[in-house]
Amino acid sequence: MSYPYQIKSLESYNEAYKKSVEDPEAFWADVASNFQWRKKWDKVLNWNFKEPRIEWFSGGRLNITESCLDRHLEKLGEKPAIIWEPNNPEERTRIVTYERLHKRVCQFAQVLKNNGVKKGDRVCIYMGMVPELAYAVLACARIGAIHSVIFGGFSAQSIADRLEDAKAAFIVTCDGAFRGAKDIPLKSVIDDALIGNKMVKRVIVYTRTRTPVSMIKGRDVWWEDEMLKVTDTLGVEGFGDVEVMDAEDPLFILYTSGSTGKPKGVVHTCGGYMVWTNYTFVNAFQYQPGQVHFCTADIGWITGHSYILYGPLSAGATSVMFEGVPTWPDAGRFWDIVDKYKVNILYTAPTAIRSLMGFGLDPLKGKDLSSLKVLGTVGEPINEEAWHWYDEHIGKKNCPIVDTWWQTETGGLMITNLAGITPAKPSWATLPLPGVQPILVDENGKEVTEKAEDGYVKGNLCIKAPWPGMLRTTYGDHERCRTTYFATYENLYFTGDGALRDDDGFYRITGRVDDVLNVSGHRIGTAEVENAINMHASVVESAVVGYTHDIKGQGIYAYVTVTGLHGDEDSTRQDILQTVSRIIGPIAKPDKIQFVSGLPKTRSGKIMRRILRKIAEGQLEQLGDTSTLLDPAVVDEIKQGKL
Ligand code: PRX
Repeated sequence: MSYPYQIKSLESYNEAYKKSVEDPEAFWADVASNFQWRKKWDKVLNWNFKEPRIEWFSGGRLNITESCLDRHLEKLGEKPAIIWEPNNPEERTRIVTYERLHKRVCQFAQVLKNNGVKKGDRVCIYMGMVPELAYAVLACARIGAIHSVIFGGFSAQSIADRLEDAKAAFIVTCDGAFRGAKDIPLKSVIDDALIGNKMVKRVIVYTRTRTPVSMIKGRDVWWEDEMLKVTDTLGVEGFGDVEVMDAEDPLFILYTSGSTGKPKGVVHTCGGYMVWTNYTFVNAFQYQPGQVHFCTADIGWITGHSYILYGPLSAGATSVMFEGVPTWPDAGRFWDIVDKYKVNILYTAPTAIRSLMGFGLDPLKGKDLSSLKVLGTVGEPINEEAWHWYDEHIGKKNCPIVDTWWQTETGGLMITNLAGITPAKPSWATLPLPGVQPILVDENGKEVTEKAEDGYVKGNLCIKAPWPGMLRTTYGDHERCRTTYFATYENLYFTGDGALRDDDGFYRITGRVDDVLNVSGHRIGTAEVENAINMHASVVESAVVGYTHDIKGQGIYAYVTVTGLHGDEDSTRQDILQTVSRIIGPIAKPDKIQFVSGLPKTRSGKIMRRILRKIAEGQLEQLGDTSTLLDPAVVDEIKQGKL
């Protein structure tokens, strides 16, 4: 494959950027013409950020899997699309060629149809990182069903909430998943999530761990049995057919946390998302045909959707999919995988880098790593120490590092350097991609152009104009989409992040300015964690804030008032952790819980989080004015608890 839109020099980046701003329609029409369309679009872009209404390539007809699979069959059919590395390094690798992937996707698409799934139906996917997860996702896309993948670390309650919000009638899951030394009983979690659920008609269960599972007659079926019914490509009418979709038909829903309420279902659509994930993949990582790309994310998050599946596959790339964790059986696992498959592009999160740094250089002994050409990071700000370690010990100072800033809502990369093409700067995401128009604003939405004392322009990061991969709505609640992203500042998309800009126009993302935490690159709302803590029978109220954590980036700190302890503080703490695990999932468990007799509140009853954040950070001398508090003595007590 060739990528005529791949930027090859700093000058052509500047040119592309300029054109994308001056004439976005012509720019994106050019890029989009490199994909498989059943019918060309009538209009490249219609938009307003007021409602908001964003339409890319409207009137265009396509099925995204034709660009990801069918179009590669002739020339790349024998080439690996997915290389699957199992959790246990002793187990057999699976290499799924484009031809095989196409076949499996068509088969599973038929299975979905046989089980009653139709265009527009929501299919919830709760699986471990096995190739069948990729088949399930792409099979949904092939028949126009809307997939909603849920990360394996979420609890039954979280799944139940998402099933209800998405009004999903179908689930694809596994009996269990292997992750490091653990077996996670996925089907059993689904069973709990389905207690009282009347909507789900069918659960398809793939056998991975062969852990005992309950199978309910009329509702639950085995993946393998269903696949047997469609093994023969002949004789099944319509086998392999695609559902031809409108460019703006929904492709998937992915739930993500915000500063208030329950997680919302971010909706991405077929045409724009396809163009954006491919364009950003090919440009930021400078993907060259034949290279092996290894994105270490889980497909339960947007990074896995866009840079294990849709971006690489639409580019005809080879994508490594890893079932396990970086530290099992030892902390050299990523490096073994890089050597085993001669990985050229490694894309991971700062939290993984920091955790591996903690093991020193021993796990790197005897690892070659010379296949690596490009390194990437995503999910949270990368500190300079981690950046240099990655550069020196993994890239051997030979690989450009791309620091990619983006979000579930943006569908793909937004601000990033282009590997080896535009300059890198440690801990700076640097320049916007063509099509992305960032702006820094103050609290009132006024553009900030003046530099602060440190020489940087500082503000809340917003985006001025639409890009093809942006979210279109939040599922079932368009008003929530408007108020969350488009109402804070008029005519701007608000990211929720703060940023700095230097004299070269480079951006550095400083972190969330709202009540959203970023724990090990996982996004969690403080309100969500508080609600879960408050469900515990003895809890009166709680306040959750983030604090700097050496490895996770941010840790979760909870201040909790209780009616009484059951046993001692520690056993009550454990009960609260269990409660959070049940309500949200283990990923949301607070790192620290401090029992307090009251929370610092203003006279109007608002919790003063600013003070709690400072205490959690140990900045006890910098609490500022506490005299306006309802009960200033509470602060002293909390401080003492901390000391
Ligand atoms: O705060 C930013 C941070 O992650 C948030 C988005 O989280 P999520 O939707 O889960 O998507 C993560 C993967 C794209 C952002 O609002 N973030 C993401 N990438 C970076 C980052 N912060 C700093 N630098 C980055 N490269």
